[in-house]
Amino acid sequence: MYTVKGQFDFTQEEEAIVVGLVDKNRKLDGIVSELDSLLNGQISTLLAEGDISAKKKEISKLHTLGTLKIKRIFFVGLGKENDIDFEAVREVLGKAVKTIKKSKVEQFSVLVDTFTTEKLDVLEVGHALGEAVALATYQFANYKQKSNIPDKELSEVTIYTNESAEEVKASLDVGTAYGKGTNTARTLVNLPGNMLTATDLANHAVELANKYEFEVEILDKEEMEKLGMGALLAVNKGSVEPPKMIVLKYQGKDQWEDVIGLVGKGITFDTGGYSIKPKDGIVGMKADMGGAAAVLGAMEVIGELRPEQNVVAVIPSTDNMISGDAFKPDDVITALNGKTIEVLNTDAEGRLALADGVTYAKHHGANYLVDVATLTGGIIVALGNDITGAMTNNEELFEQVLEASYEAGESIWRLPITEKHKERVRNSKVADLNNSPGRDGHAIFAGTFIGEFAEDTPWVHLDIAGTATTKSDYDLGTAGGTGVMVRTLATFVERFNHTKEN
Ligand code: BES
Ligand code: ZN
Ligand code: ZN
Repeated sequence: MYTVKGQFDFTQEEEAIVVGLVDKNRKLDGIVSELDSLLNGQISTLLAEGDISAKKKEISKLHTLGTLKIKRIFFVGLGKENDIDFEAVREVLGKAVKTIKKSKVEQFSVLVDTFTTEKLDVLEVGHALGEAVALATYQFANYKQKSNIPDKELSEVTIYTNESAEEVKASLDVGTAYGKGTNTARTLVNLPGNMLTATDLANHAVELANKYEFEVEILDKEEMEKLGMGALLAVNKGSVEPPKMIVLKYQGKDQWEDVIGLVGKGITFDTGGYSIKPKDGIVGMKADMGGAAAVLGAMEVIGELRPEQNVVAVIPSTDNMISGDAFKPDDVITALNGKTIEVLNTDAEGRLALADGVTYAKHHGANYLVDVATLTGGIIVALGNDITGAMTNNEELFEQVLEASYEAGESIWRLPITEKHKERVRNSKVADLNNSPGRDGHAIFAGTFIGEFAEDTPWVHLDIAGTATTKSDYDLGTAGGTGVMVRTLATFVERFNHTKEN
């Protein structure tokens, strides 16, 4: 879909070119001033008159009406030079791509050098463009008789640069891998519960394994029973759908050591069970496998980019249903690591599934753990819909996840886990733990509970209940699954540094 070429020739034929405009009080330089001269000063005049704007996210279209063989120019406002960073360019390009797509242009060329600044080089712009095109053109195929997917997709994007075309192509490909992995996660989240069961999620993992030569293990119910995965099995009890424990292994080092475990909550539908959700709270619970989607999306990126790291992805998966067989409040269950749990709330099922997921990741050699889960409504009350909640038992591992989240432009904010929280989670007359100590700060109890299974292994917990989905369209995506944390996880894995004392 991409061709990267050298210097742009303004006399060539083009359907559309995309040019970045840095807000420099209407001063033009470089390629843009060359273009301005060819257009007899039109750009400067239109800028001065306010018909074209260099303000951030302003997109202006200019038809050359035959002055040049270039039919139209999309000017993309970047804002003030000092404020332009990777995230800004990614979003601006997303908006530009959406605008171009609406204009029915099928082929366009991007003059990437016009998007660079002293702080942002062309390789970063290439990465941003690769992500932006993938993310901004994403659409989930709905089930209407008249399809929402247009017959013609954007088919050709040509990139022109005076820098190394090969390097720019490589960075575009990296950005595209990140974008596509995110889109896969979005689709998994958007699929309804009747079309994405634990078995379907497992099948997706097997497809990934075949494509990227990952080792794969899918445990069925009998195997889980033999191993004693009583926590995940309890959640599955009310369901007619068999549970799956999904494991993917990517070995990027000679030895299976320094293994990063990524554990994703894979509840394909959460009714709440006998602690049933109110009817308005059930709608949308197809997205309760957003953590699993993030992990699988990240594994796709990892499969494409093949970093020198070892990763084991673990996804405990089932739906949380009601039947004569379902688990109940007051039940006492035994998790894979032998800890007993008093079930006080069947709607706090994610932490149960994750308990066995985390333990199983350790069985597979995970030395570092990051779990991702649509875990609590409490995190939405605390942090809203733009910020993912984080908890940890290890400062250095958290720092690395935080750094990755900055790089990916996906905000996270840490909440504390104190001894008092641990006491509350351990407070049960009949078992080692209880799964629901109360509503007061309950996002923290959920994290604390998972920490009881991470034990001494460095661990970071990411609660994406608020960020896994969004209600409205935005520059880099549509309403529905966001694919949040795919890019953070993949960046974290790519950059992971074992030499630190963890
Ligand atoms: N899947 C939900 C959390 C959730 C809520 C995700 C809203 C996305 C949007 C989770 O299993 C749950 O029900 N948590 C309970 C925990 C409570 C019982 C302690 C909650 O948040 O109310
Ligand atoms: Zn629940
Ligand atoms: Zn849930």
